[in-house]
Amino acid sequence: MTLPFTPQTDVKPEIEAFFDPQTNTISYVVKDPGSNACAIVDSVLDIDYAAGRLSYESADAIIDYVKRNELVVEWIIETHVHADHLSAAPYLQEKLGGKTGIGEKITIVQDTFGKVFNEGTEFQRDGSQFDRLFKDGDSYTVGAMTAHVIATPGHTPACQTHVIGDAAFVGDTLFMPDGGSARADFPGGDAGTLYDSIQRVLSLPDETRLFMCHDYGPNGRDIKWETTVGDEKTHNIHVGGGKGKDEFVKMRTERDATLDMPKLIIPSLQVNMRAGEVPCDQDGNPTLKVPLNKL
Ligand SMILES: [Fe+2]
Repeated sequence: MTLPFTPQTDVKPEIEAFFDPQTNTISYVVKDPGSNACAIVDSVLDIDYAAGRLSYESADAIIDYVKRNELVVEWIIETHVHADHLSAAPYLQEKLGGKTGIGEKITIVQDTFGKVFNEGTEFQRDGSQFDRLFKDGDSYTVGAMTAHVIATPGHTPACQTHVIGDAAFVGDTLFMPDGGSARADFPGGDAGTLYDSIQRVLSLPDETRLFMCHDYGPNGRDIKWETTVGDEKTHNIHVGGGKGKDEFVKMRTERDATLDMPKLIIPSLQVNMRAGEVPCDQDGNPTLKVPLNKL
C-alpha cells in the first residue's frame, strides 16, 4: 500500500483537542510549532434538534483558544461529510478566516443526498461550497508544515486522512484500538474499501500519532482520542494483529446491520453537504427538512 508522499515524522505539530460530549466528536486545532499558523479539523456546530435550535458553545471554545493564543487560521478542514454532528466551518471562517477544504468526492455525497432531500437546482452538486477540494495525494501548507491528503474512503466515498508531520487526522476511518472502526453502511460506504483505506493509514510509520474524530469510551473507559499506528496495528479489535479483509468485511457487515441511524443524521447531512451552511426556505428562514422513509 503505497503512500503518495514521504512521511516527515520529525515535524511535530502542536495539537489541541476539543471534545463535544453531545456527539462524542473531537475537533482539533493543529499548530505549526515554528509560527502562529494553524488549521482547524472537524469542528462542531451545536444543535438542540428537538427544539430546532442552533448554538455555538463548541465553536466559541475553539475561537476563544485561537484568539487567546494569537493563532492565524489558514485552513478549516473536514475529513468527510459527517452524519452525526453539524460542522461549524462557516461560523469559524467568518470569525477567524482561513479556507475550507474537503475531499473532491464530496460531489458523490452531494449527488446521493441531494436526491434523498429532494434538493432543487439551487443546491450545487459540484463541491463549490468549499474553497478547496482535495484529491488523493494533494498537499497544502500550514505555516512551514506541509499537510498531505490521502483518500481513505469506505465509511463514506469522500473520506480523507490528513497527515501533517508525525500526526494524522483519520476522521472515521479508524477508532481507538478498543473501538475498532466506523460503520460502512451509509450510502456510498463499503466495508472492503474501508479495510483497504485502513491499511493505507497503517502504512504510515509506526510512531505516527493518530487522532480520532470520535470516541465513545467503550466498556466504560475514559474518553481518548490519540493513539499511534503501531498501537492500532497491534491492538485494534477490528483490524489489528493482521486480521484479513474477508474477516473484516464479514464482521463489519454483520455489525452494521444492527446499528441505528445516528440521531443527528437528518440535520447533519443537509448542513454538512453545504459546507456547514444551513439551507433556507423560500422566505429565507433557516429550515431543515425531514424526508420520511428515505434513509
Ligand atoms: Fe462520520
